[in-house]
Amino acid sequence: MNINSNEIFIMEKRKIVTLPGDGIGEVVLEQAVRVISAAGFEAEYIHGDIGWEFWCKEGNPLPQRTIDLIDEHKIALFGAITSKPKDDAAIELDPSLRDKGLVYASPIVGLRQHFNLDICLRPCRTYKDNPLNFIRRSKDGGVEEPYVDVAIFRQNTEGLYGGVEWTNPPDQVYDALMTHPKFRKNFGSAPVEDISVSTRIFTRKATERILRAAFEHAEKYGYRSVTVCEKPNVIRETSGMMLLMAKEIQKNEYPQIELWNTNIDAQMMWLTKNPENYGVIVAGNMFGDIVSDAFAGLIGGLGFACSAQFSEDGIAVFEPTHGSAPKYADFKTSIVNPVAMIESACMMLDYIGEREIAGKVRKAVAEVIEEGSVRTYDIMKMSGREDVTGRGAASTVEMANAIIARLQKQ
Ligand code: NAI
Ligand code: MG
Repeated sequence: MNINSNEIFIMEKRKIVTLPGDGIGEVVLEQAVRVISAAGFEAEYIHGDIGWEFWCKEGNPLPQRTIDLIDEHKIALFGAITSKPKDDAAIELDPSLRDKGLVYASPIVGLRQHFNLDICLRPCRTYKDNPLNFIRRSKDGGVEEPYVDVAIFRQNTEGLYGGVEWTNPPDQVYDALMTHPKFRKNFGSAPVEDISVSTRIFTRKATERILRAAFEHAEKYGYRSVTVCEKPNVIRETSGMMLLMAKEIQKNEYPQIELWNTNIDAQMMWLTKNPENYGVIVAGNMFGDIVSDAFAGLIGGLGFACSAQFSEDGIAVFEPTHGSAPKYADFKTSIVNPVAMIESACMMLDYIGEREIAGKVRKAVAEVIEEGSVRTYDIMKMSGREDVTGRGAASTVEMANAIIARLQKQ
């Protein structure tokens, strides 16, 4: 081959699609990219349009050109978007686009559906000396701070959020429901126009994929247990199927990993009792959503909650759990915590095999939080107002600067 190494390097430079979106999405994404670059990660970032602006201007918050970009480059770092109810959205549409029958739909849901991003991973790990950490009373009356390190795998496309639902269901649906003895008995006398139905459909394929992802993660990162967090004693078919399949997979392929089974309601109670006992948790769509928000609350809330979504054919989107925080979006100096976005970028680094760089970044973030002199308003337990930076809180950029300064010392 007649290519010099410099050319190979240029050819192989990784391309990552950046989707800042709306509100604070832009600032947190920009700062996360600064941080991972300072840690030595090199990539070419390709901007993709997404969010409210494109709904208003083009009638589509997820333009086809953005889908094409993600299709081509496979990996996206996503900030946050603003979503509004359909009617509010219609009012903000450019006048030239009104009366065209355009209906607003969330571009996040759109991405998830288009690429079938069926696996969602939301890790929650305690940062030492984070003032937002959950604490509890110890036996001797003192206070203890359990170390939380869980990875929640949420099935992202099916179940109660699958969108198969009706109010006043059509005849065929109603007739089919009436063939079920429990429906006939409990709902058969209600007028059909007074009935709303939201289905909870699980397929074996998607259930197997989320379970396997959970077990693989447990093995790769050394977690002792995988907990199925559902409600199989009541929701016998869907939760029941997930638990049965988990038992098979564990028995045949991961005998060294313990399989635990908790009910979502009891899990919410135990969460504050013994969160340190859990490792990998796996659940359907809605229960996964609930359990991941609950665990995120133990480690600092939205400023710390990161996530990743994966499809079967290799598309991966990394994003903080928080939204666009419009309340703060127009502050002259941004006050929001960039850590959730930075952690999401670290998940991307793990995914593409840059675990060493991810480790450096996480170490730097941990040091800044532990050291404690540079902290955003949420970590300082202030209410989010424009003047917090004048009262000792770090801005978004100052927080990122402090992390970069730590990286430079490593
Ligand atoms: P939000 O997550 O944007 O903000 C809720 C509150 O959490 C904020 O007011 C702030 O107090 C706090 N917060 C959020 N991110 C923070 C950060 N990085 N640092 C410190 N504090 C932070 O949720 P909200 O207000 O319910 O929704 C605002 C918009 O965002 C809506 O249009 C909603 O549809 C959209 N949204 C988008 C999501 C996404 O892009 N993934 C997820 C959730 C909401
Ligand atoms: Mg949620």
